[in-house]
Amino acid sequence: MNTLANFLPQHLQQHNLPAELGNVLETVTAACCAINNKVRLGALAGVLGMAGTGNVQGEDQKKLDVIANDILIEALKNNPNVGGLASEEEDSFVACHENGGYLVLFDPLDGSSNIDVNISVGTIFSILAKPEGTLTTESFLQKGRNQVAAGYVLYGPQTQLVLTLKHGVFVFTLNEQGEFVETQSQPKIAAATQEFAVNMSNQRHWQPPVQQYIAELLAGKEGVRGKNYNMRWVASMVAEIHRILMRGGVFMYPQDKRDPSKPGKLRLMYEANPMSLILEQAGGAASNAHQAMLDIQPEGLHQRVAVFMGSSEEVAYINNLHQND
Ligand code: AHG
Ligand code: MN
Ligand code: MN
Repeated sequence: MNTLANFLPQHLQQHNLPAELGNVLETVTAACCAINNKVRLGALAGVLGMAGTGNVQGEDQKKLDVIANDILIEALKNNPNVGGLASEEEDSFVACHENGGYLVLFDPLDGSSNIDVNISVGTIFSILAKPEGTLTTESFLQKGRNQVAAGYVLYGPQTQLVLTLKHGVFVFTLNEQGEFVETQSQPKIAAATQEFAVNMSNQRHWQPPVQQYIAELLAGKEGVRGKNYNMRWVASMVAEIHRILMRGGVFMYPQDKRDPSKPGKLRLMYEANPMSLILEQAGGAASNAHQAMLDIQPEGLHQRVAVFMGSSEEVAYINNLHQND
């Protein structure tokens, strides 16, 4: 059984990657272990409920959103290899060490609507190389393709770390000693699937191509797709993407007609991009229905984006339906 502590130096050496990147990943994953301890205790640690504050995106913060954010920031600020960080819960980026070579972007706690009802939540992270020169917002606005590593930690029935350094995807499970132990290597997502994930309550607000797509899936065997589809919606992206990594499926959060200034709900930099890198590395696909997610040129730290990701046949089918849109 390989622990993360053994895996990282081996993997870095095998692929000629810098030790400093491994060091940043050690800090991120150690912070996630600390977050895990809080999540696990819930009411016993007094961490449930609202924080009584809001973030820059106008969302109410839960206590655990704030605690997870503080744990990650504190840990990353203490790592000299971290040049700067950006978080869902911070208005703008936080500068760390002038000579730090890496930028860490994260959603400290994803799926916060599930915290108080004891349903899986997670942490999502994306790592970029810091460009030369003074750190500005532009330093972070790199295409997803530029990520040097990405991952998530799922605080579910088991606590699991899923990690990619662009040489496949690796899955680790937290053991009783607090070590991540490799439990699966290189999972692959089947191109075809019969399972989709979408918040159906938004149906009336979707654009016509998404309306058509979901109608086709719901028509099942009798419809043009010629097979029955099952649906799942946890409302935690980490749980959803983990299910897709394990057994296939397609996950969507389409653009909503209600607010044209918001092209979707999910955020490009610390939700869509890291998940897209993981899925692509596992043979899946990800797009905003018009272009590959990882090729989008970001324009803002908290930019929102329409999301279609998972089994490659479904993502291609969705892209095709949007061709004349
Ligand atoms: P966050 O808790 O970080 O704000 O993200 C929640 C996201 C994502 O995890 C999930 O897929 C989606 O919001 C759920 O949205 P609905 O509440 O509209 O179902
Ligand atoms: Mn989120
Ligand atoms: Mn969040």
